[in-house]
Amino acid sequence: MRIALGADHGGVEQKEALITYLEGRGDEVFDFGATRADGSVDYPDYALAVARAVAADEADLGILICGTGIGMAIAAGKVKGIRAATVTDTGAASLARQHNNANVLALSGRFTPLATNIEIVEAYLSAEFEGGRHQRRLDKIADAES
Ligand code: RB5
Repeated sequence: MRIALGADHGGVEQKEALITYLEGRGDEVFDFGATRADGSVDYPDYALAVARAVAADEADLGILICGTGIGMAIAAGKVKGIRAATVTDTGAASLARQHNNANVLALSGRFTPLATNIEIVEAYLSAEFEGGRHQRRLDKIADAES
């Protein structure tokens, strides 16, 4: 898959590890920053860059990491067509894809250990959107965007 990644200073270390993990799986990874050298940065800059890449179909999915995963999801969700989900466990990771067809996953670099975030990413990537009544609900969300 083509996966766009972004992080602020709260998630940059985990981003580096997740890139290694995803490349090991054979995914094509686009790193939108930040880097460790950037110091303290503003998470919306990275959330919007990743979300715009996904919305423009330059990537299939996005993964964002900040301190909590909350700010990243709020910012990414402002881009039309983006369904961003903050996820802290594997059950919700599967459902974010199966029910919500989330195209951006937002993770916590401060409260979720790397090993758990790797399990979350694996659960998210291996799940499939179920359509049906879930599509009807997503259509209502999309209607609110236009
Ligand atoms: C940055 O200190 C922190 O606010 C950010 O990483 C994130 O948790 C925001 O939601």
